[in-house]
Amino acid sequence: MLNLELNTSSGLSRIHVSESMENLKNIVDPSMTILLVDENVLNFHNNKLEGFKHITIPEGEKSKSIENYSRIFAKLLEIGVDRSWRIVGIGGGVTTDLAGFVASTYFRGIAFGFVSTTLLGQVDASIGGKNGINFEGYKNLLGVIRQPEFVICDIDTLKSLPLVEFTDGFAEIIKYGFIKNPEISDFLEDNIEAAFNQDREVLKKIVYESIKVKVNIVQSDERELGERKILNFGHTFAHAIEKLHGLSHGQSVSLGMILATRMSASLGLIHSNVVDKLTLILEKTGLPVKADLDPNNMAETMLKDKKKAGDILQFILLEAEGKAIVHKLKLADLKKILNDLC
Ligand SMILES: NC(=O)c1ccc[n+]([C@@H]2O[C@H](COP(=O)([O-])OP(=O)(O)OC[C@H]3O[C@@H](n4cnc5c(N)ncnc54)[C@H](O)[C@@H]3O)[C@@H](O)[C@H]2O)c1
Ligand SMILES: [Zn+2]
Repeated sequence: MLNLELNTSSGLSRIHVSESMENLKNIVDPSMTILLVDENVLNFHNNKLEGFKHITIPEGEKSKSIENYSRIFAKLLEIGVDRSWRIVGIGGGVTTDLAGFVASTYFRGIAFGFVSTTLLGQVDASIGGKNGINFEGYKNLLGVIRQPEFVICDIDTLKSLPLVEFTDGFAEIIKYGFIKNPEISDFLEDNIEAAFNQDREVLKKIVYESIKVKVNIVQSDERELGERKILNFGHTFAHAIEKLHGLSHGQSVSLGMILATRMSASLGLIHSNVVDKLTLILEKTGLPVKADLDPNNMAETMLKDKKKAGDILQFILLEAEGKAIVHKLKLADLKKILNDLC
């Protein structure tokens, strides 16, 4: 097992990489803990959670709704959960985002932890203290920043994860390589087959090194006033691609990172061989690197997505492989650049 600590003003989070879900009963008291568990995780892994009471979370983004949030409060009251209890969210990002928000608002905030069971959840969603739900079409509009007491990243649970979800997680891992630590993408490139064959040691290293990047960034800027913004590398484009083309998050981030890196090259910040390197590794992972995108639609959607007035957008660009910067762009210039890129 590999351990990490994330220590911020909103709390201390202990992160256990490659701990088993079955060990949860040794970390918390089952009689004072309520689990919020993703329905698919329950189907595959319920035998590891014996002795606990649980509430099932239907799979999918729709569970991050205000209706589901209030349904859970009703259940918690029915079971008799009070402020001396603890909530543990078990599943991917949907379940942990929701569980963290429920726990942070019930009785003005009770203790909580996560068992993260998707690759994206382990390297991204469960780490960093952002908890929330969606409202009226806006993602994560209602939320808080509060650290879970612990996060268990159980590598073995990834075996039951559908291939599309598994592949999606690699987009964020490659992101960490290109914004901060090129060793991550180099290691992944050399071990891609082993990773897809569920080689435990390889996955453990990739997950651990990725979390380390996120932990260091969040520790220095929990509230995203500065450095934490670089975690959005590829994401301004990706959110528009996700909306307009219905691709998955990881697939959209893959295309978004290609656009951001090509933009960095066309502004003269990096050499075009960084674009080639990124393209190659994304391709090897099975993520898309080409799509037919409409530049005008993309620009308008990106502006709307930001829910704010004005025509300035922030992009995360690369100054080198492993070094990201925030770059501001006007809508008119963005349209021009997108016309060249798309
Ligand atoms: N809080 C943050 O900082 C942060 C960061 C990134 C993403 N997110 C959020 O995370 C969510 C996406 O998370 P996700 O990609 O993990 O999706 P998810 O939680 O929807 O899980 C993906 C699918 O895999 C299934 N599943 C989960 N674990 C499984 C397992 N071990 N075996 C079999 N099936 C399993 C789920 O039922 C679901 O169908 C989004 O809502 C996003 O907003 C949050
Ligand atoms: Zn993402």
